[in-house]
Amino acid sequence: MVIAIDGPAASGKGTLAKRLAEHYRLPHLDTGLLYRAVALTLLDAGQDLADADAAAAAARGLEAGFLADPRLRGSAMGEAASIVSAQGAVRAALLDWQRRFAGAAEGAVLDGRDIGTVVCPDAAVKLFVTASAEERARRRHRELDGRGEAVAYEAVLSDILRRDARDADRAAAPLRVAEDAVVIDTTTLDADAAFRAATDVVDGRD
Ligand code: C5P
Repeated sequence: MVIAIDGPAASGKGTLAKRLAEHYRLPHLDTGLLYRAVALTLLDAGQDLADADAAAAAARGLEAGFLADPRLRGSAMGEAASIVSAQGAVRAALLDWQRRFAGAAEGAVLDGRDIGTVVCPDAAVKLFVTASAEERARRRHRELDGRGEAVAYEAVLSDILRRDARDADRAAAPLRVAEDAVVIDTTTLDADAAFRAATDVVDGRD
């Protein structure tokens, strides 16, 4: 059983994906980490994020061990990832990677932006997790605050809006709700309620 989870930044999809993977004992891939890893590879090598050839080569050479690098988690790398992720050759290289992961075991949980639409169009379950931009900014702001990163709420909100626009407006695999996805709006749901809504969908499928 493949569970595909898509949605914008800070929608709660990562937390949900992790819990579903534990609950159903499936391997989990946070696909955002792949794009973050490509960006970090370029930055470490002193290359330009917009260098399409270098980015494609970094994507083709990506090794699984690299995904554990703690530097991938920072908000600067999310921004850098959203730049490299607009390049078609990067997406093509990572597509193979993601499909191999999805097909390697009895099932898998993958979360990202284009899992239900492009990577796993035949997934047994497709969820689109979203929340208002203001609520997502509040969550991200709290998270950064907790890590001791003092950033103004307005700056976090404008960062989220810019990233939403870049992900939705790009030509290559833009962020879209798959036709057969179930939308879970977490604006007024906590993590437990979102998890219950998702297991209702998984357990109740045909
Ligand atoms: O989800 P996360 O914030 O880690 O993703 C970082 C960036 O990587 C996103 O803003 C998006 O541009 C890109 N991404 C993507 N497709 C995916 C996962 C992430 O384009 N499946």
